[in-house]
Amino acid sequence: MRGWDLEVTAANRPAPGYAEISCKAPQAVAALPGQFFMLRAGEHPDTYLPRAFSWYRQEAPDRLSFLFRVQGPGTRHLGGLRAGDHLYALGPLGHGFTLPERPVRAALLGGGVGVPPLWGLARNLLAGGSEVLALIGARSGAHLVGAEEIAALGAEVRLATDDGSAGRKGLLTDLLEGEQVDALYACGPEPMLRRVQEISLGAGLPAELALEAPMACGYGVCMGCVVERTRPQDELGDYGRYARVCREGPVFRAEEVRF
Ligand SMILES: Cc1cc2nc3c(=O)[nH]c(=O)nc-3n(C[C@H](O)[C@H](O)[C@H](O)COP(=O)(O)OP(=O)(O)OC[C@H]3O[C@@H](n4cnc5c(N)ncnc54)[C@H](O)[C@@H]3O)c2cc1C
Ligand code: FES
Repeated sequence: MRGWDLEVTAANRPAPGYAEISCKAPQAVAALPGQFFMLRAGEHPDTYLPRAFSWYRQEAPDRLSFLFRVQGPGTRHLGGLRAGDHLYALGPLGHGFTLPERPVRAALLGGGVGVPPLWGLARNLLAGGSEVLALIGARSGAHLVGAEEIAALGAEVRLATDDGSAGRKGLLTDLLEGEQVDALYACGPEPMLRRVQEISLGAGLPAELALEAPMACGYGVCMGCVVERTRPQDELGDYGRYARVCREGPVFRAEEVRF
């Protein structure tokens, strides 16, 4: 882990309320899919604390992009960056997704702003000979992000939207009905992750979940991002009941965490 000064090379708005910023990044910044960076732009008191973001695309060895929903002061500042601006990035942080030992048919589920870590995961799974079924969901067709980019890698993509304006109307996890897959990987809102956990435990399917939590430090010292473990680590006393999303995660095996 170290801090980087990254130059922005391009910025765009792929959907209403979303921004993607691409940066020139030395190859040493290389991160695994699911790992994240703490990003900060500017010195305003509202944005002094960096915010956590998965990396999204790596279109060339020396490029890295971030895709995010503009929500509050941190993402407003980052979303206002233009080519030639600079941002501070601390990372890569945390543990990413685990690749299978041999090729599998994997379902990747990305809900809303949960799509970014799935691009790199799809790329690496396909490179290892796995088949990738990417299930991508959003409020409406206008809010879908990442589907075309993941399809361009060679993944089979299916869509679900709350209002039925693109793909199937309903829950993203409903797209799993009737599908034969060997592994699940998911990132998105907590109710969706909970449902993926239920499906995984019910069917005995291995699943990895990329969690989000409010983060102040991003590297394990503030304890602000903990989740409860299903199996406490007794040797750690009271702390053993919890795992830090930033340090032990953000990717956990489905059976490891209690929502
Ligand atoms: C490991 C990790 C990876 C992430 N990757 C992405 C990503 O790729 N793209 C993306 O859009 N967002 C991502 N997030 C969420 C992102 O960190 C928050 O959206 C961001 O911190 C909001 O900052 P803000 O100053 O704009 O808004 P704030 O004013 O800080 O918050 C605005 C709203 O967002 C909620 N919020 C703040 N932080 C989080 C959080 N960590 N998780 C969930 N909700 C939060 C707040 O409760 C509030 O409702 C990630 C979070 C984590 C922990
Ligand atoms: S964000 Fe500080 S311990 Fe995880």
